[in-house]
Amino acid sequence: MDYFPYHIRPIEPEKDAEPIAKLVLNCFRPWLDKENINYLHQLRDTGAEALAHPVWTKLSGFPYNIPGLVCTDKDGSIIGLVNTYSFFQKERKCCLISNVCVDPSHRREGIASHLLHEAESSQHTAGAYGLYLQARMEIPETYFFYKHNGFSVTDFRDTWIYPSGKKGSENEHSEFHTGIVPSSERENFQKHFQNRYPETVLWNLNYTSAIFKFGRINDLYNRLTSSVNRFRSVIGENGETKAWGAYQQLSDNFDQLWYVPMDLLDAARQIRILALLCKEYKGKKALKLDVPASESDEIFKKTGFIKQQTLAWMWKRL
Ligand SMILES: CC(C)(COP(=O)(O)OP(=O)(O)OC[C@H]1O[C@@H](n2cnc3c(N)ncnc32)[C@H](O)[C@@H]1OP(=O)(O)O)[C@@H](O)C(=O)NCCC(=O)NCCS
Repeated sequence: MDYFPYHIRPIEPEKDAEPIAKLVLNCFRPWLDKENINYLHQLRDTGAEALAHPVWTKLSGFPYNIPGLVCTDKDGSIIGLVNTYSFFQKERKCCLISNVCVDPSHRREGIASHLLHEAESSQHTAGAYGLYLQARMEIPETYFFYKHNGFSVTDFRDTWIYPSGKKGSENEHSEFHTGIVPSSERENFQKHFQNRYPETVLWNLNYTSAIFKFGRINDLYNRLTSSVNRFRSVIGENGETKAWGAYQQLSDNFDQLWYVPMDLLDAARQIRILALLCKEYKGKKALKLDVPASESDEIFKKTGFIKQQTLAWMWKRL
């Protein structure tokens, strides 16, 4: 690479938390939800405390782990960031790249490319198989930037939010009802599930196989242990399963809806099925739903979902 006047180094959480939080707030503000903003404010304030009381912080320990690299200018100010999180996919060590951002007054100087390049070589040395990330299609420069840096797309996905407190649309004439998922449906469900949630996206959707358990005993167990984590089939007039749904506890503000329709369900029936799943959801939080971006927006809009983002899931083999 050409002459580069800046310095790249690993993150030192106690020292860097405050400026990192400020940089991320500055670069991503339009796309942050309430939960992200609260987290970043806490990180910023805890970081400021740590800078003010370094000895006390050394003794008591700093509560945030922030793996990754920063780029600093000649005064030591942080002007670029990349976070690197390790995870395992099929027992292979991989790395999730996130929060890649550069101070707006220093863009197009090659900073993000240098950060990525450094992250790649340190992850390669650490034995990682590949780098993975999600690029927001609402920020097209991101997509171009990663393409420029050798990443390729595996999937385009949409995230939809069903707002908290919404009761589900009126759906009195629906021909659908929900029931337990018998063990005989295991194979059929798994085939449809894999189509809808391929492995290329599953690793980053808080997936846990414990949610998708079959049969009456598991149904009872699910009901007893949680009112949210329940796996159910959506049954049509003729008694056949038309879709499956499950809710998963995610965070203070969101739960996740897993929605797996059978093939050849038209939009009108999907809207009624989703409305039923939303109506039966008894949690007080918003519901997050991840679907392939190729799917018609109409289905989700008409059910009352609001589109949060379209993501390109990208990766690069190391
Ligand atoms: C995306 C971002 C990190 C790029 O940082 P940067 O330091 O300016 O990127 P680089 O200078 O290394 O750019 C490398 C290449 O990426 C592409 N690129 C970067 N910004 C681009 C833009 N605004 N439009 C089109 N292509 C762009 C170009 O091909 C560029 O090469 P070039 O300058 O020789 O044409 C920066 O714009 C940013 O912080 N954006 C807001 C936060 C964000 O969206 N982060 C992505 C996380 S998902």
